[in-house]
Amino acid sequence: MSLRSNILDLRKRKKEVQMGGGEKAIEKQAKMGKLTARERIISLLDKNSFHEYDLFVEHSAKDFGMESKKLHGDGVIIGTGTIKSKPVCIFAQDFTVAGGSLGLMHARKITKIMDHALKMRVPLIGINDSGGARIQEGVNSLAGYGEIFFRNTLASGVIPQISVILGPCAGGAVYSPALTDFVFVVENISKMFITGPSVIKSVLGEEISMEELGGAKVHAEITGNAHFYAQTEAECFEQIKSLISYIPRSNAKKALSYPAKAPLKGKKVESIVPVDPRIPYDMRDIIKSITDGSDFLEVMEHFAPNIIIGFGRMDGETVGFVANQPMVLAGVLDCDSSDKAARFIRYCDAFNIPIVTLEDMPGYLPGVDQEHAGVIRHGAKILYAYSEATVPKVTVIIRKAYGGGYIAMNSRHLRADFVFAWPTAEIAVMGPEGAANIVFRKEIAEAENPEEMRQEKIQEYKEKFANPYVAAAQGYIDEVIEPKDTRARILHALQVSENKSVFLPNKKHGIPPF
Ligand code: HXC
Repeated sequence: MSLRSNILDLRKRKKEVQMGGGEKAIEKQAKMGKLTARERIISLLDKNSFHEYDLFVEHSAKDFGMESKKLHGDGVIIGTGTIKSKPVCIFAQDFTVAGGSLGLMHARKITKIMDHALKMRVPLIGINDSGGARIQEGVNSLAGYGEIFFRNTLASGVIPQISVILGPCAGGAVYSPALTDFVFVVENISKMFITGPSVIKSVLGEEISMEELGGAKVHAEITGNAHFYAQTEAECFEQIKSLISYIPRSNAKKALSYPAKAPLKGKKVESIVPVDPRIPYDMRDIIKSITDGSDFLEVMEHFAPNIIIGFGRMDGETVGFVANQPMVLAGVLDCDSSDKAARFIRYCDAFNIPIVTLEDMPGYLPGVDQEHAGVIRHGAKILYAYSEATVPKVTVIIRKAYGGGYIAMNSRHLRADFVFAWPTAEIAVMGPEGAANIVFRKEIAEAENPEEMRQEKIQEYKEKFANPYVAAAQGYIDEVIEPKDTRARILHALQVSENKSVFLPNKKHGIPPF
């Protein structure tokens, strides 16, 4: 064979394998509004940057008639490429080949690219579209998942791990994403569940659709498994590119610096917060009054919306924001919002991203539901995460900072580096109404006019504690600042903290209240 015919042969072989499960299966995929695995990679990565490996790998199964079956690439594509000129490792499961199910060789391809990502210290992106463990391969598929989960855990906190759910993902296909840092879902396309509708029907006799069981909305709003929600695959890929621009390539690097920009001239920061402390406002407006170009990439926007988490830039550098949202449940802390914030704080800490906390909340949510759902255990996660974090930590108390919430939201006592308060801040063990009812119960009950006495006592308590000056007098907050100076004060605090160095007791690892 001449070189020319060798090359032609190579091209023919490549073309054949690149057709995955064939034209019919590809058509079925397209009818569901889904791109193919290959199209997804090409759409996400920089133009012409994708390099594929293990294209010719074949499955090794021998049972259930598998020996005669050809599964091109064993149902997964792996390779390297760039996003915004920065390298990434990537895999995409091909649902057109045996439903993207995971057999031994399929798993070996994924673990090869995972090892590469960890060794080279570059982000790993996994596009998941899979029926889970390949039933015909038995324990070998389970072994494959085990190898993937182990690597997910090993790489956690070292390189960013991003999971994209672009199809029905069942069984093992959802546990790997659950171990990664960010999970992206797309309306109508993404489904995640451990056991599918058919198993539920046969075991429990219940009928449920895939969408109701584990559709994109379910995971973005209810379970908290998804961090980003998009209407289309194209929107999802834009979200991934945006995220990649904010986060460092590994825990040994800083996120990229961008040219500094002033915030957009929107609402004046001092006019965002209503004078009446009972009237809510959108905390995002304050975040946008602080960040460069008012840009803010919100994470987990639809889950536990009483707390806001996400990335912005200040003077061109990435900052992680954790902020109570007074518009939802007055910004109260509860099981879900504690989980959401704690995990994000740990992410920022692992990847050298300073944390800015904006506080306005009435404490932890009272009630039997929360107590029985484990608010003690879940609420403790946020205490743990802030206490453990050694990145620069700055807090601004905007309005309410009551009770356990005051401590939890990056207080001085958990080693915040800088704590500022607006003059509107109210720092107390609880809200004046609750406090007056407890402390002055006797006086109120015995008064000629109990309501008048109650109001008097509320006022008395407010004057004494519901302001920033008692905490300022103790040095618990560093400075009472004018709202218009918020961005400048945070920027200075971050600049001063750039070389922050903290000594912690030597230990293997802590035991957070998981
Ligand atoms: C082998 C599989 C498969 C699997 C799908 N296929 N899942 N083959 N092993 N796990 C094949 C189908 O046989 C079919 O092949 C093709 O993929 C497309 O599947 P369809 O069922 O036609 O597609 P759809 O109707 O869209 O349904 C998708 C699905 C469903 C919801 C994912 O296929 C399904 O319920 N699969 C089983 C899910 C599951 O229980 N997985 C095992 C989980 S246990 P043909 O040849 O007909 O095109 C697990 C253990 C790990 O993962 C646990 C770790 C902790």
